[in-house]
Amino acid sequence: MAKDSKRTVLVTGGAGFIGSHTLVELINAGFEVVAVDNFSNSDDTCLKGVEQIVGRKIPFENIDCCDYEAMEKLFQSYEFDSVIHFAAFKAVGESVEMPLKYYRNNITSFLNVLELMQKYNRSNIVFSSSATVYGETDVLPVTEQTPRMPAISSYGNTKQICEDILRDTVASSKIRGIALRYFNPIGAHPSALIGELPRGVPNNLVPFITQTASGVRECLSVFGNDYPTPDGSCIRDYIDVVDLAKAHVSAISRMVEDKNKQNYEIFNVGTGKGTSVLELVSMFEKVNNLKLNYKIAPRRQGDVVAIYADTTLANVELGWKAERSLEDTLASAWKWEQYIRSKK
Ligand code: WQD
Repeated sequence: MAKDSKRTVLVTGGAGFIGSHTLVELINAGFEVVAVDNFSNSDDTCLKGVEQIVGRKIPFENIDCCDYEAMEKLFQSYEFDSVIHFAAFKAVGESVEMPLKYYRNNITSFLNVLELMQKYNRSNIVFSSSATVYGETDVLPVTEQTPRMPAISSYGNTKQICEDILRDTVASSKIRGIALRYFNPIGAHPSALIGELPRGVPNNLVPFITQTASGVRECLSVFGNDYPTPDGSCIRDYIDVVDLAKAHVSAISRMVEDKNKQNYEIFNVGTGKGTSVLELVSMFEKVNNLKLNYKIAPRRQGDVVAIYADTTLANVELGWKAERSLEDTLASAWKWEQYIRSKK
């Protein structure tokens, strides 16, 4: 494998929210990148934003990772030794309504990537997993040893299944893998040139908040204030997307530099701090000096009461820690929303 291929990374889903931010941080860290995306849940806005931020073209192929032939051509055309696999559908509610769409897409795409890595002797993969694999747990904060409960959505089940596929593939091949279990990714790059671009009505809290603040949405519904938490609303671990992107660079570097202790490793990527929905809403109002129109609505099916991470393993082993304050993250989310609205 040519030397530079050791420092070249294929980023699937590279036009997406976390994928685009990770392209920036990989390049900042001196890696070369190749991005693929089928634009099923994104467009070229963030890719263009990445190019403006890093000041150069990003090698990009408009490919569906479920298309084995197209992906094989990619492996034959580019010399990358590592992969970061983001490409997947991620809407929890939609996955409950259309499970087959999620099982086919999320699992087939991952199988294609792994099979081609084996066939073309590519070494390292970071898999985009999720805290949703823990399900409803009453032991908080969750560590990587916290048992995974049965998934409460097909989306979450695809993440559990793909973690197991990665574990078994690593055990029977030369591939090394790291699964990063994200908590709740939010925010945007400080440049406001890339950020979250949900299609249609946002499922997630922060894009719904920013779209309510910009008038795109009439009113935010807070799904329940009668939970057994201090203010009655659900608690989550909101992790800044730039911090999350940097965790991917740390994970890839760990394997490229042969510092991994096992060939399959799992890391929680969060802040270690729980924030409730109502706390986050009031922080958003305060930081951005605005009043948000919201109402208390019935609980949303499938929501866990509270979940936040024990991040010790990532802090110690990856040498990574979330750095951005929630205030700065919420300010960046609003700056991005205003930028996007100004372009409409
Ligand atoms: C957070 C909190 C809602 C919207 C999911 C996936 C996870 C990851 C992130 C993909 C909850 C409340 C939300 C709204 C609200 N996957 N909320 N009003 O459900 O914790 O995690 O998305 O990216 O794997 O499981 O994130 O942002 O949807 O909800 O009150 O309009 O905000 O009830 O308590 P969630 P979320």
